[in-house]
Amino acid sequence: MKLRDDDVWIVTLPKCGTTWMQELLWLLLNNCDFEGALAKDQELRTPFLEFGYSVFHDPNRSFGPIEDLKSPRLIKSHLSLALLPSKLWEGKNKVIYVSRNPLDSYVSRYYHGVSFGFNYGKSLHQYFDEVLASDDFPTEFIEHAHEFYQLRNEPWVFYTSFEMMKKDLRGVINDVSRFLNKPINDQQMEKLLKHLSFAEMKKNPTTNHLWELAQVQHENAGKEMHPFVRRGDVNGYKDELKPEQIEKANVRIQEVLAKNGVTLDELL
Ligand code: A3P
Repeated sequence: MKLRDDDVWIVTLPKCGTTWMQELLWLLLNNCDFEGALAKDQELRTPFLEFGYSVFHDPNRSFGPIEDLKSPRLIKSHLSLALLPSKLWEGKNKVIYVSRNPLDSYVSRYYHGVSFGFNYGKSLHQYFDEVLASDDFPTEFIEHAHEFYQLRNEPWVFYTSFEMMKKDLRGVINDVSRFLNKPINDQQMEKLLKHLSFAEMKKNPTTNHLWELAQVQHENAGKEMHPFVRRGDVNGYKDELKPEQIEKANVRIQEVLAKNGVTLDELL
């Protein structure tokens, strides 16, 4: 894949606040063009690297949605560091990484899966028992974040979390604007805070993925659907998973964290 020197990457695992950060990044890279943001689906403004094939159904055009973008491009990916272009290591491109508590992310994945037809007929508790039975949990999750956490002081990497964004969105906006070298004035900051609020993103048709849900609505008529911008809480898993599931998950999480020599507080 050919990179351009001013490409910016948003890298996350699914359901970690990608869409939220993507909207902020796109606005910073486009001089806070709120009208432009509201005029076009986010997925078209800042495409998902791994979805190119599903747009063009042509292996030679897998990068089509990204190749067709004007610079500066904002590219979304859920790939792990080792699978991303090695050219990133030259440090010309910037990468923003957003982590999230794995349990909140898995609960969010469950509801996303229900809406898109993967988890029909399966309760959250059944789904999470399957997660707990898988060998990947939570290694995949912790290692994905930890690799970027270790690079957090590189000038081309900005590491943050869903939890940080919830705690201090203004602070994160200031830090990202400095990182991208895209200063904003007070008025732009206030508009960004409003545009990025949970309530606004939930009703904004360019960020709430209603278009994507509409694609499956026909097959899913009458079945359970959940909004993409759904709950937006930190530690929401505590009232959604069973206490014994949380306990089992936390033991596994602590084991993998210890192997990686990092704490959950550091990753979040
Ligand atoms: P929940 O399902 O826990 O509510 P991603 O974009 O990576 O798929 O992440 C989706 C998660 O981010 C969802 O989490 C969604 O509600 C949350 N989210 C999206 N926009 C948000 C916002 N402005 N404020 C808080 N949470 C937001």
